[in-house]
Amino acid sequence: MNDSKEMLMKAAQNSHFVLGAVSPEQWPQDDLPQVAFAGRSNVGKSSLLNLLLGRRLAKTSQTPGKTREINFFKIDESLYFADLPGFGYAKMGGKELERMRNMTEQYLRSCKNLAGVIFLLDVRHPENKTDIESFAWFKSLSTALLPVATKCDKLGMQQRQKNMAELKRIHSLEEMPIPTSSFKKTGAELVWAQIAMLIKGENKK
Ligand code: GTP
Ligand code: MG
Repeated sequence: MNDSKEMLMKAAQNSHFVLGAVSPEQWPQDDLPQVAFAGRSNVGKSSLLNLLLGRRLAKTSQTPGKTREINFFKIDESLYFADLPGFGYAKMGGKELERMRNMTEQYLRSCKNLAGVIFLLDVRHPENKTDIESFAWFKSLSTALLPVATKCDKLGMQQRQKNMAELKRIHSLEEMPIPTSSFKKTGAELVWAQIAMLIKGENKK
């Protein structure tokens, strides 16, 4: 399979929703690579996924905590996207939160074809406690993490640069996160380029 950025972007035109999985036996079992999208509830996971696919396949919502299963999308015969449940939703009960954490951990540990995790960080709130805790948690599960900053349209250039530097410092990143805006439809090409690298295994930590 040729999985260059250009090929993947072309493949994305032929994508579809597979299912919302609540248990491991529902996860795709074939050999295609999988790329997961993670981050706080409402950070913009489903919106970024739609930006990458050029279509509104993933449900977005202004009400945080809607996605509680793992939503799988198949991109042509090239790869899967897994839209993971968001964390940090205040109204979610302890048991439900624990169920989601367990499911996510099981997915991260047992998915043999997981090429990497795109971890979304809201550029407006570099010091968000939930982001800091969950980024560290994902890191501890030793997956290849790709940090992406969302909602960049919401800040002016100067503040955005300042916050990007803060995100780099706070999460001890090697580089700045990739800036994106689903609203302005910017950043998709950069993210696709990194996804191509994740699939080739060139970004594994
Ligand atoms: P959960 O499924 O609850 O975990 O949320 P999510 O991370 O999938 O967030 P979602 O994509 O549903 O977006 C949440 C809200 O933020 C929606 O109202 C989106 O329209 C908005 N949003 C997402 N990305 C952007 C962005 O880049 N810019 C702006 N201005 N709004 C955005
Ligand atoms: Mg979502």
